[in-house]
Amino acid sequence: MRRPTVFESLDKQPTLTGKSVKLRARRLEDAADEYRWRTDEELCRLDATTPFDNTFGEFFQRFSIEIEYPGLTYNFAIETPDGKHIGDCSLFHIDYLSDNAEIGIMIGERKYWDQGYGADAILTFLHHIFQLSDLNMIHLRTLDWNTRAQECFRKCGFEFCGKLIKEEHTFIIMGINRKKVLQTG
Ligand SMILES: CC(C)(COP(=O)(O)OP(=O)(O)OC[C@H]1O[C@@H](n2cnc3c(N)ncnc32)[C@H](O)[C@@H]1OP(=O)(O)O)[C@@H](O)C(=O)NCCC(=O)NCCS
Repeated sequence: MRRPTVFESLDKQPTLTGKSVKLRARRLEDAADEYRWRTDEELCRLDATTPFDNTFGEFFQRFSIEIEYPGLTYNFAIETPDGKHIGDCSLFHIDYLSDNAEIGIMIGERKYWDQGYGADAILTFLHHIFQLSDLNMIHLRTLDWNTRAQECFRKCGFEFCGKLIKEEHTFIIMGINRKKVLQTG
């Protein structure tokens, strides 16, 4: 019998409760925050992306399509327990041959940096992914000078896997396997 794809296994998007964050499905009301973050030069520089340079209306149209048709990306919004939307995380680049995928995270609200929200969101997301899917390994990449991000990922149990040079950027690749995540309860 055919085994379910990762997206079939992860079909539902429950609200996931971590120690200090909640992960929930993204909704249209998140668009204004997302637009603010995606047009912020510092956030984009930290993420090696180019700031979105179109209007909010154009961004909203794209965001609504992504919510309706998520395609091959599995996204969650990150909230504090009192419901403040502070960031997002996603799973993408799923490789079915090696049971490997990539995650990305952004805490867009600066005043919530360095308080453990990022690490809690990642661990909550990883537990959910590994509990429901057959994926065996998750990678992420971050710029070689983004030491805050690397420290956050190291705290979560990610280990250095290599470097990737792409255009003018050098990325650090880090990875973690399902056994390591699931044995931490
Ligand atoms: C990277 C990011 C997701 C981390 O989330 P976070 O909630 O800030 O991270 P945490 O608080 O869980 O962990 C950060 C750790 O780095 C440490 N840190 C902060 N600045 C640092 C620096 N310049 N160098 C090394 N470590 C640093 C913090 O003290 C903390 O460690 P501690 O818990 O032992 O004190 C978040 O800061 C973010 O989205 N930043 C902006 C965008 C970005 O960097 N995007 C790239 C993601 S690949």
